[in-house]
Amino acid sequence: MSNFWDDRYKQKEFAYGKEANEYLKQMLPKYEPGKILFPAEGEGRNAVYAAQLGWQVSAFDLSLEGKKKAEYLANINQVKIDYRLGTLEELNYQQNYFDAVAFIFAHFPAQIKGDYYTKIGGFLKKDGIIILEVFSKNHIQYQKINPNIGGPQDVDILFSIDEVKLFFPNYEIIELVEKEVNLSEGSCHNGLGSVIRFVGKKNDL
Ligand SMILES: C[S@@+](CC[C@H](N)C(=O)[O-])C[C@H]1O[C@@H](n2cnc3c(N)ncnc32)[C@H](O)[C@@H]1O
Repeated sequence: MSNFWDDRYKQKEFAYGKEANEYLKQMLPKYEPGKILFPAEGEGRNAVYAAQLGWQVSAFDLSLEGKKKAEYLANINQVKIDYRLGTLEELNYQQNYFDAVAFIFAHFPAQIKGDYYTKIGGFLKKDGIIILEVFSKNHIQYQKINPNIGGPQDVDILFSIDEVKLFFPNYEIIELVEKEVNLSEGSCHNGLGSVIRFVGKKNDL
């Protein structure tokens, strides 16, 4: 699996660009900086953006090439990020530690997906914030019309609103919508797509 991502990230260009995701840019500045985790952070555009806002940033991904690009991006922007290589099982994040977790197109294989989101939610403190943007199950229709939009092609990896409620049951929903968006993120996310957007505040431990 990491070969697919390593091959993508080996290219000189940043696959999803160097600019942070628009939804993250819309939502993150509403919160006081603290400790934030970026699962499946790829080439680091979102992690670097959060560090520039003053957040103490942790990130992980299973792609070594992604880690190299992310650390390069952090260096040229003169910020620090703690980027770890591995799957969730290999990393030892603390329970109830982070003030925020941002899932930006953090799609995991269908067989581990539910377990992953629930476990990662456990790393958040009470009152901690989740910011999530992922492709919705309806995104499959958009990919047929516009292959440049990218995203997983397996409907079980894609998301529904019900799944967000299932994986994050103990959260106050600040926003939860499915919507059509026009993405312009590097060469791999371009044009109209369908996403789920979620901001939630953790209610209990
Ligand atoms: C679409 S990219 C998103 C990258 C980044 N979040 C962004 O928005 O630019 C999906 C990422 O998920 C990572 N990934 C997939 N399965 C993973 C797993 N089990 N553990 C950690 N990372 C994983 C891939 O290596 C890839 O970097």
